[in-house]
Amino acid sequence: MPNLVAVIMAAGKGTRMQSKLPKVMHSLAGKPLIEHVLDVANQVGIERPLVIVGHGREVVAARIHERAEIVVQAEQLGTGHAVMQVLPYLENAGTVLVLSGDQPLLKTESLQALIKMHEDREACATVLTAYMNQPFGYGRILKDGERLVRIVEEKDATPEEREVKEINTGTYCFKGPALKDALRKITPQNAQGEYYLTEIFDIFLKQGERMLTYCTGDSHEALGINSRSQLAEAEGIFRGRILERWMADGVTIVDPASTFIDAGVELAQDVTILPFTRLLGKTRIKEDAVIGPQTSLENCNVGCSSEVTYTVGKDADIGDRCHIGPFAYLRPGTRLEENVKVGDFVEIKNSRIETGAKVPHLSYIGDAHVGKSANIGAGTITCNYDGINKHPTKIGDYSFIGSNTNLVAPVEIGDHAVTGAGSTITKNVPANALAVERSQQIVKEHWHRETRNRGQK
Ligand code: UD1
Ligand code: CA
Repeated sequence: MPNLVAVIMAAGKGTRMQSKLPKVMHSLAGKPLIEHVLDVANQVGIERPLVIVGHGREVVAARIHERAEIVVQAEQLGTGHAVMQVLPYLENAGTVLVLSGDQPLLKTESLQALIKMHEDREACATVLTAYMNQPFGYGRILKDGERLVRIVEEKDATPEEREVKEINTGTYCFKGPALKDALRKITPQNAQGEYYLTEIFDIFLKQGERMLTYCTGDSHEALGINSRSQLAEAEGIFRGRILERWMADGVTIVDPASTFIDAGVELAQDVTILPFTRLLGKTRIKEDAVIGPQTSLENCNVGCSSEVTYTVGKDADIGDRCHIGPFAYLRPGTRLEENVKVGDFVEIKNSRIETGAKVPHLSYIGDAHVGKSANIGAGTITCNYDGINKHPTKIGDYSFIGSNTNLVAPVEIGDHAVTGAGSTITKNVPANALAVERSQQIVKEHWHRETRNRGQK
């Protein structure tokens, strides 16, 4: 392939988004729009595309500078003006691919097919097009046979031209030298002084250049995000693609309509996802795990054959064969080894729980290390915060923490140690010891009858 350069236009404000955030930073399946386009560029073999930034350029650049060459378009004078900004970078460009940062549903296969057609047929320009039943807002493709003649924008189109259903997706392939030449010739097209990239085709037509179109069969790919409503539409389509892909790879998704899986999630074979479940960020789920119903995991790892029900987790690692929930809350820094049980109404934060340990009910475990096979009684609380600092709690292997124990950190409970139910433990408990901290129970015999008799006098 002759020296392929990719340019991604991402400088527009996206006025109709009504947002502080630049348009291409809005998130689709957990990733900014611009990154979806960068991913597709990477997949066709372009390592470092040129990204044209303008509105909110600091925010966009901060997010993508490691994987793209940033080019600034200080004033947004249209798509033609945007591409003019990369002229100095096109010195040795054989083929130039132009992509839009607001078109996240573009598929790698389509881009590959576009490039192939462009090069096989030695076209000067090839446009990725799609058929749309409701083409409103898109540039229309005017052709003579298979040759592209012109692209006319919605607002400049005649009523007959508006009837055309083949539209410009905003993705193009150009011969580098011809593009450089033509970019110098485009002129402002309207009262706002806007330069249309699509004017390039008028220039090429006059020069008698060969211009072709490659039409994708999936019109969704053309969806350019200009509004929040289009963002939601794209989210739905993209989500459907993700779910289809995982089902094809052997994941059971009981109710796709109520399942949300981000683009960065990885699932192994025979994972089951039950209804009303969200898997976000870089969550990874291993084989035979069952997640849901009503579970939300963000950047979590779940081991083989674990079950996670009615649970919220963030930045938590769950080992193999664990049972989590219902109604557990796993906060950042939670690390559960194998075969751990975390039951109902339990919150865990920044704590490591070793193999076989159980926290079955109504507990808060924070900044703690719980040894293997320890049993944490219902209602146990690590009192890890003194109002100023957080302190650690260490609970030994095979220890038994009685129900309703308060562990006032910093404190250590030795291996095989036991605490009596209801104790507030403020001092370390050695291995094998029993610690009880509560007043003696007083029993008054016949108390009920005596007080009643007094009352009757
Ligand atoms: C453009 C096309 C239209 C096509 C549609 C597909 C033109 C004149 N029209 O219209 O034919 O059907 O895309 O979605 O090109 N941008 C810049 N700098 C600018 C202006 C825009 O970088 O000065 C970027 C935007 O951030 C966006 C992309 O270019 O990512 C497309 O711009 P947008 O204003 O959305 O173009 P459309 O009006 O949708
Ligand atoms: Ca657009």
